[in-house]
Amino acid sequence: VHPGWPEKLGPIRVAAGVVTVRPIRLRDASAWSRLRIRDREHLEPWEPTGESPWDARHHITVWPSLCGSLRSEARKGRILPWVIELDGNYCGQITIGNIVRGALRSAWVGYWVASDVTGGGVATAAVALTLDHAFSRVGLHRVEATVRPENSSSRAVLHNVGFREEGLLRRYLDVDGQWRDHVLVGMTIEEIPTTVVDRLVRSGRASWV
Ligand code: ACO
Repeated sequence: VHPGWPEKLGPIRVAAGVVTVRPIRLRDASAWSRLRIRDREHLEPWEPTGESPWDARHHITVWPSLCGSLRSEARKGRILPWVIELDGNYCGQITIGNIVRGALRSAWVGYWVASDVTGGGVATAAVALTLDHAFSRVGLHRVEATVRPENSSSRAVLHNVGFREEGLLRRYLDVDGQWRDHVLVGMTIEEIPTTVVDRLVRSGRASWV
């Protein structure tokens, strides 16, 4: 058993509504498939290139094995795969990946939010909740993220939760069919005086429920 999994994070309130973060589950299949297929244009420019066509890769029948393997990795303490809920409804996902312990105690964070609820602080809230959990219950020292320079809204999310830019990774990741540059951002526990959510609340971006 690994610390911090499976657990539910939140709730906190942002402009869009009440945000909670909870482990992925088998019955997310239809919401996952429907939103991922509907939002292909919104998501594909920013996500790792897949091996099969988008619609096939996101068919409802794919979820059980995907969910099963993610949950199995979670039980081994390697990743933490969560669903983001807005007012109790599935609206995206957030993942802590490549958890390395020992003297590194580090991981990356990645996320997506459905196109019809963007701009209301949902991703900012989910990243803040997840960071606080990673630094407390999971026991990590550092969390990093990589983002395409052109992804202005995701860069705003990372900036707003307090990530620091650390450099440009040239031709870093195969995204949308090509090797794409990515900005690397990082945060260590020493940079958070209280919690990330507390900082959001103090800056007026979120409130406690
Ligand atoms: N230029 C600059 N800033 C922008 C733009 C733009 N064109 N569009 C939106 N923004 C800003 C918003 O104003 C807001 O910042 P503010 O609060 O300072 O005003 C910020 O971007 C968005 O914040 P949220 O509302 O919390 O984010 P949202 O819930 O809309 O989700 C996300 C953002 C996750 C990037 C969503 O658009 C999405 O899923 N995109 C497609 C997938 C994706 O890019 N995922 C992230 C990949 S990188 C990574 O995972 C580390």
